[in-house]
Amino acid sequence: MTLAHAYGNIDYLLGSNMQKEQSRPSFFRANFSFISQFIKNPKAVGSLVPSSPLLGRAMAKFVPKKDDAFVVELGPGTGPITKALTKVGLNKDNLLCIEMSPKMVKLLHRRFPELNIIEGDACALSNTIGEKSGKVDAIVSSLPLRSIPKGIVTQIIDQMHEVLTDDGVIIQFTYDLRANRSPLLQKFKRVKSKIVVGNVPPARVDVFKKVSE
Ligand SMILES: C[S@@+](CC[C@H](N)C(=O)[O-])C[C@H]1O[C@@H](n2cnc3c(N)ncnc32)[C@H](O)[C@@H]1O
Repeated sequence: MTLAHAYGNIDYLLGSNMQKEQSRPSFFRANFSFISQFIKNPKAVGSLVPSSPLLGRAMAKFVPKKDDAFVVELGPGTGPITKALTKVGLNKDNLLCIEMSPKMVKLLHRRFPELNIIEGDACALSNTIGEKSGKVDAIVSSLPLRSIPKGIVTQIIDQMHEVLTDDGVIIQFTYDLRANRSPLLQKFKRVKSKIVVGNVPPARVDVFKKVSE
């Protein structure tokens, strides 16, 4: 990673990176919405600032390079990971974004009018995706699994297990840089990992697969 990449994240927080993709008013609106959602529901939002484009790209790089891969994004927020997902050659009909906050969903519809964005709860993932349950190749998750209450996390992990194909992957980021502490290890094994130092705060992207029974 170059110094320029690392500082890209700080630029982003100050607004200049984001402006390449969004106008200044929409940049401020997005960040204002994010912070106000954090104040309203800190456990579900889990962070005071949205992820950087750098972290978005690191997550998107782990999406399986497979024709017609079906991908579900959980917790898109204001869309930094979503943006990166639109650039890895996915068919737009094969990307489904599920966000719990109605305010974020409204903002996402404005930002990505071409994408399939649903207001929903990851606890009811299987019902929400209907006939695609069991056929998901990748779940790209920004859910703050360390701050969401444990009982809800267990429900979400069960749902993730149900909707994935046998060789499907979960791509999850965390600010806890210590290995072996993810609640996903209850049902999955970690197969890849990458630390993104340039994100503020630094984050680790992990890729998980089902443990074969
Ligand atoms: C840490 S923020 C990440 C936002 C964005 N992806 C980013 O990286 O900046 C977590 C997001 O997950 C959403 N969320 C939390 N619990 C959820 C649930 N059970 N189902 C769907 N979305 C949820 C929150 O509303 C919030 O937008």
